[in-house]
Amino acid sequence: MATPLSRKVTIGDLRAARRGGVKMPMLTCYDFTTARLMQEAGVPALLVGDSAANVILGHPTTLPVSLSFMIDITAAVRRGAPLALVVADMPFGSYQGSVARGSRNVFKLVQQTGCDCVKLEAGDSQLRLVRELADAGVAVMAHLGLRPQSVNLVGGYRYQGRTAGEAMEIVRLAKAMEAAGAAALLLEAVPAEVGRAVVDAVGLPIIGCGAGPHCHGHVVVTQDAIGLTGTRPRFVPALGDLATPSRRLFEQYADAVQSGAYPAPEHQYEMQPGESQKLRSASPAARSIDGPVATTDRA
Ligand code: KIV
Repeated sequence: MATPLSRKVTIGDLRAARRGGVKMPMLTCYDFTTARLMQEAGVPALLVGDSAANVILGHPTTLPVSLSFMIDITAAVRRGAPLALVVADMPFGSYQGSVARGSRNVFKLVQQTGCDCVKLEAGDSQLRLVRELADAGVAVMAHLGLRPQSVNLVGGYRYQGRTAGEAMEIVRLAKAMEAAGAAALLLEAVPAEVGRAVVDAVGLPIIGCGAGPHCHGHVVVTQDAIGLTGTRPRFVPALGDLATPSRRLFEQYADAVQSGAYPAPEHQYEMQPGESQKLRSASPAARSIDGPVATTDRA
């Protein structure tokens, strides 16, 4: 049974998880309220993923999400879970093309949100940026394997590392990211053997997202796992179905409004004693006003 977090979780805890053979749970999170619940549930690491583009904004890909949106939601998650390790995604277009611009955007994300680590989808062209950021003291999580921001180049969301050649390329890039100063890796949608090969090849802690059991922690998109999105990739555990009870509650609310059962007297504010009577006599239009019947303890 998890207990609420009682101290700040840092990137050092992720390294310790690798050394100590314990697994670090991580969930995606995009808002204050959920972050607070996750911290209370003892989830040590939260990923503010650019999957917010899909789950929160309803886009078919992660490409349209902006840096300012990621900043706003990461800051909200930070406020909700001040003790968790908060990793924030750099959105598409915010870090590619120019190391100077990429660094500026990463610094902005870190300064304006208080996140502990930034994640970026990594290729050889990001090695200089990773080095620059590591030199500046930024903890970078390099995202390898399936990289959703490359959907248009790859032609879909195919799992990666299907052949020995593809797997060796992922291992090569993982080693290059480690050499450039990345603090951790995230490995998405690869066969378990490829996960193991990367774990064996580098000394960094590795968060898996559909990368088999050998990684040092695991992340899934929360809304998929709790049944809110109606899509569940095969590696995502079915934690429950929050869609059905949510739908039922929304339906009950709509029925209550339509039938007049809501608002009931206990949902209404009261005037100060005697004021309702004065209002009735002063205002002919208000004569028909009936004040709330029940008293409440609310101001
Ligand atoms: O954006 C995201 O949620 C991610 C995970 C799927 C790893 O990058």
